[in-house]
Amino acid sequence: MNLEELKSVVERIRAETQTHLGQLSSLERVQELEARILGRKGRLTELLSTITTFPKEQRGQVGQMLNVAKNELTEWIEDCRQRLQKSEAMIDRQSAAGIDPTFPGIVRGFGSIHPVTAVQWKIEEVFERLGFTVEAGPEMENDYYNFETLNIPAWHPARDMQDTFWLDNGLLLRTHTSPVQVRAMEKYGPPLRCIVPGRCFRYETIDASHENTFFQCEGLMIDKNISIANLIAVMKLLLREVFHRDVMIRLRPGYFPFVEPGFELDMRCMICGGTGCSTCKQSGWVEILPCGMVHPNVLRFGGIDPHEFTGFAFGLGLTRLAMMKYGVRDIRLMNSGDLRGLVHAERMCGNIIGKS
Ligand code: DAH
Repeated sequence: MNLEELKSVVERIRAETQTHLGQLSSLERVQELEARILGRKGRLTELLSTITTFPKEQRGQVGQMLNVAKNELTEWIEDCRQRLQKSEAMIDRQSAAGIDPTFPGIVRGFGSIHPVTAVQWKIEEVFERLGFTVEAGPEMENDYYNFETLNIPAWHPARDMQDTFWLDNGLLLRTHTSPVQVRAMEKYGPPLRCIVPGRCFRYETIDASHENTFFQCEGLMIDKNISIANLIAVMKLLLREVFHRDVMIRLRPGYFPFVEPGFELDMRCMICGGTGCSTCKQSGWVEILPCGMVHPNVLRFGGIDPHEFTGFAFGLGLTRLAMMKYGVRDIRLMNSGDLRGLVHAERMCGNIIGKS
């Protein structure tokens, strides 16, 4: 081996040692590495024994180069040894204190599906199985579809039931998803089955159970011979699918100008189990689903002959249903963007997509 070759061998040993040291995680391995480089039969030790094979005038230089390398490698190995000694001592201390630092940490998810979206997807899935289409309508609606076609003329006191955000352009923010009823009738004609999940707005004072922005899901089924029995069967199926169990419900007569007869479907409050809480206004029941048989006037507005066809409609409170399902007590949490609220919702929902 000549001087140049020796230099490159030394350089390779330095580089390899440096790489290995960075990867070692136990003192035992450091010991082994040290033996391989600096031990009696180590690579550097063997190079030192080749000094005498070099011409006399080069031996000084060779010796000096190998010594420098030896000191350097010894120092690196020692540094590595000390680093590992420190961390092993720390691990000993931790395990004496009952801490296992090798135990995998808590993995945080990167966000979750909003509870309202999760419930919406579930409802869409159930209704699609029943042959319903999923429709959408404008959030900025006109008086005609939001009120007029729903049998609520301008003079009707029912307009006051839904405090409305009127816009400067003469339109309004839809107060419910019901305007899509007549839009769908116009679009498809009878027979017709659809649901309309969507955002609605009311000029409301906000509290634990009222929001000015919330989600509903309208439902509409029109055919020959549709009766209240169909309505009840579909509503029961829906709630059973959403809650994965039979839910206690009650029907009360309810007034809505666009259905006749009209009902309020209540379900047992799942937050308190019926004992009373702020969500159910201490009543033990939550209004979840106003519904009824589509009023003949509404069918006429949609161009459908009420003597030939009948239908049922419902207006599910999606936001409220999501609160029930996931045990969210305050509706303000749903739109707040408050990360504590979102974390809360995430905890309540778990892995929604996988579960439902
Ligand atoms: N649109 C009504 C509201 O927001 C809810 C409603 C009641 C919808 C009865 C319906 C229905 O389809 O049949 O207050």
